[in-house]
Amino acid sequence: MNDKKRAARGERTIMAVGKSAQDETWSGKAAFVLAAIGSAVGIGNLVRFPYVAGDSGGGAFVLIYLLAVFAIGLPVLMAELFIGRRGGGTPIAAIQRLAKADGASGSWTLMGWIGMFASFGIVTFYSVIAGWLLYYAYVMVGDIAGNIGANGIAGIASPAFAGEDADGITGRFGALLSSPGKMILFHGIFITISTFIVTRGVKGGIEKAATWLMPIFFFLLVALSVISLIIGDAGAALGFLFAPDFGKLAADIKDGSVLINAVGQAFFSLSLGSALMLTYGIYLGRDTSIPNAATTVAFADTGVALIAGLAVFPVVFAFGLEPAGGLGLIFGPLLLAFNQMPFGALFGLAFFIMAVFAALTSAISLFEVPAAWAKGDNTLDEATRGRRRVIGSVIIGILIFVIGVFHALSQVPTDAADTFFNSWEPFGSLPVIGERTLLDAIDGLTGNVLLPLGGFLVAVFAGYVVTQSASREELGFKSVSNYQRWRFLIRYVCPVVVGAILVYGIGIAPFLG
Ligand code: PHE
Repeated sequence: MNDKKRAARGERTIMAVGKSAQDETWSGKAAFVLAAIGSAVGIGNLVRFPYVAGDSGGGAFVLIYLLAVFAIGLPVLMAELFIGRRGGGTPIAAIQRLAKADGASGSWTLMGWIGMFASFGIVTFYSVIAGWLLYYAYVMVGDIAGNIGANGIAGIASPAFAGEDADGITGRFGALLSSPGKMILFHGIFITISTFIVTRGVKGGIEKAATWLMPIFFFLLVALSVISLIIGDAGAALGFLFAPDFGKLAADIKDGSVLINAVGQAFFSLSLGSALMLTYGIYLGRDTSIPNAATTVAFADTGVALIAGLAVFPVVFAFGLEPAGGLGLIFGPLLLAFNQMPFGALFGLAFFIMAVFAALTSAISLFEVPAAWAKGDNTLDEATRGRRRVIGSVIIGILIFVIGVFHALSQVPTDAADTFFNSWEPFGSLPVIGERTLLDAIDGLTGNVLLPLGGFLVAVFAGYVVTQSASREELGFKSVSNYQRWRFLIRYVCPVVVGAILVYGIGIAPFLG
């Protein structure tokens, strides 16, 4: 069927559905871009990027990650946004409508289900890590209060943890992991706040929070990285992050995990493959240029990840810490940095509060995917949809809390207590996700497997199922060659590269010995 006939048969109806689907829309272009950045920027940039970069040996990983963001992530981001906007309703319904209009199978909704499952899986552990950030904000309040108690108001100028030695300070993170009660409490507080915001809907909550919090967070992070480069070992950090060792790169690529980690991190950080950007696309107005918005989001997100790396690694090297420090890598170095600067406790407090807000804007976006689904398609009446959204969100919130408790228990060091979850490896010895306790296993399953898989399906759907006229119209590129570039990336580069990396990383490399 040619494009004209297709348009005559189905697409006009889709456009109409898409329009009426916009019962909730962003209140402007800037609000949308800020909310999308709010979703993208979070624990993925601040905690996960330094951790994966450290574990994967730095430079080579960073190089592949950057390629993955711009050659794979960015085109997929544009695709998710336009599929959501054109389809409307819920993520699943949007895919269904587009598939139907182009005479494709209804099983394409599988990609929405994978995304929803991944979003739910991610938010269960995301909230636990956000709880750690929240806990440190609380610790900083205590530290400031102590300093003021000892020295009067002048105490406010004191560094964090004044008088404590480096081992004591980095040991604080281990102590938190050994206190499951604290982890569960702060995870509980975080998920309660997120649930409250999500029940209020897209305009009331997400948008307002994102507009003023993201700029403040960005400013504090830049300040922190500058301080860290001054007090830490700037040369070692820059070398580690930006000087890829090509000999090592060849060996790493053979291992496969560096490729999977880099592509997984790109998807995780940009909130892709999880049906999230597809969900946000549903609320996106027709006057917003998808390529411009997507490019802004990709640059902002990647910039924040690199700056977070610059805030963490100079201190890692200056204090002889291990770059492959695992999931909690950032906590020791950040606490040390706050210990090295005047007003460190106050700065630390501001930083952790902003980090919690950055995590909050991402968590509510993750939560938004299942909540949008619970709300139901736009064939239901508004009152029903509102009720379903509130009830659905509360049930999902409770589930996230319970599973999060298991995640928290999986992080307790085995020599501190036996919590069952800290020795249980749910996926046995499977490649990529095996030999890890619950939190790391779900992180690996969602981030390194499901999101890339979801992204692979989005690329095939947008490149082969959706008609060319539909994607051209939705994307609205100013120049023909830009559209053709996008189409080349989405049809050939994304599916082939992501598919090959998944097959090689999961199915071949682990067995090469
Ligand atoms: N991108 C978010 C972060 O970096 C996490 C996220 C992943 C959010 C997938 C939504 C969907 O913290």
